[in-house]
Amino acid sequence: TAPALTDAFARNITYLRVSVTDRCDFRCSYCMAEDTKFLPRRDVLSLEEIDRLASAFVGLGITKLRITGGEPLVRRDVMDLFRALSRHRVSGALKELTLTTNGAQLDRFAAPLADCGVERVNISLDSLSPERFAAITRRGDLGQVLAGIKAAKAAGLRVKINTVALQGVNEDELFDIVTWAGAEGLDLSFIEVMPLGEALGPERLGQFWALTDLRARLAERFTLDDLTETTGGPARYAKLRETGQKIGFITPLSHNFCAGCNRVRVSATGTLYPCLGQAGKVDLRGPLRASEGDGPLIEAIREGLAHKPKAHDFLYTETGVSGQVARQMNRTGG
Ligand code: GTP
Ligand code: 5AD
Ligand code: SF4
Repeated sequence: TAPALTDAFARNITYLRVSVTDRCDFRCSYCMAEDTKFLPRRDVLSLEEIDRLASAFVGLGITKLRITGGEPLVRRDVMDLFRALSRHRVSGALKELTLTTNGAQLDRFAAPLADCGVERVNISLDSLSPERFAAITRRGDLGQVLAGIKAAKAAGLRVKINTVALQGVNEDELFDIVTWAGAEGLDLSFIEVMPLGEALGPERLGQFWALTDLRARLAERFTLDDLTETTGGPARYAKLRETGQKIGFITPLSHNFCAGCNRVRVSATGTLYPCLGQAGKVDLRGPLRASEGDGPLIEAIREGLAHKPKAHDFLYTETGVSGQVARQMNRTGG
């Protein structure tokens, strides 16, 4: 069997997130600026290169692979990549091949994704009000995303909704979103907004909503039983005793989960980011292109892993945040 990838803190790295584009048809306010300049296409890896890169990681012991963006489904011919990667599902090397999407194009892509061995998808949705959804995403159409969710279910995909908790923005929808997800049979995770790019700049600082508070509000209406099992991601889950629903809490700021981190990510330009919340990076595109054999690439991957930091430095207090990272979320896909 393949040697496990281990970092300097003895954490086993089994989860790779690969961003296939920094572009997106939405402009969620906490993810990118309205006037974001996208990477020149020539800097972006070809789909063949992404397959080769991801497959090298699989050879090193990655068992969970998540395709991200920007919005992964806006990358031209992205299904060619999923079809190629599906061989690792067939061989059993990958236990999970999946993606995180804004859902806007899932009505077209859900069935072909399921054919490639994708079993679950994570879909971002922060509001059930069409006007508010349009305001948060700056471009998004709620109806289209709901159609995407429907198509995903029809294709047999399990759906997890990601809701970024934003004080004063979607706070009043907490119970509506929980009730809707329960009625639709969708898993649900709430996420604390992280200070990447302008996400928690001075004018948006008030939007930070600690999930400790969100959870306390849920506990006024439901009994929460903590679960120990995970999906291999950062969420900690609790079950609502009254409805049987599983709710995930992703709490990078109020309670970081770095000690158990099992992930690294690669951008669309082939840059390895060992930690989402740190600036550190290692170029993989050079070694990938330098040789037809994977030797230099594997060496660069191991080098990157050796420099994976212990934790991010995100810190939120009433008066400000620290540990911000200048890079916008759409560069790495989270
Ligand atoms: P599951 O397989 O369902 O557990 O998915 P996931 O939570 O691993 O992936 P998803 O793309 O749905 O990410 C949800 C949120 O978790 C996003 O806001 C990501 O940015 C965040 N996230 C994922 N990995 C990390 C990480 O290593 N550090 C931090 N701080 N956030 C992360
Ligand atoms: N903080 C937390 N989550 C974010 N996402 C995008 N930007 C941020 C941020 N600044 C979420 C999206 C998507 C997931 C990949 O990351 O909502 O669900
Ligand atoms: Fe697009 Fe996702 Fe960023 Fe929203 S969070 S702008 S859907 S990449």
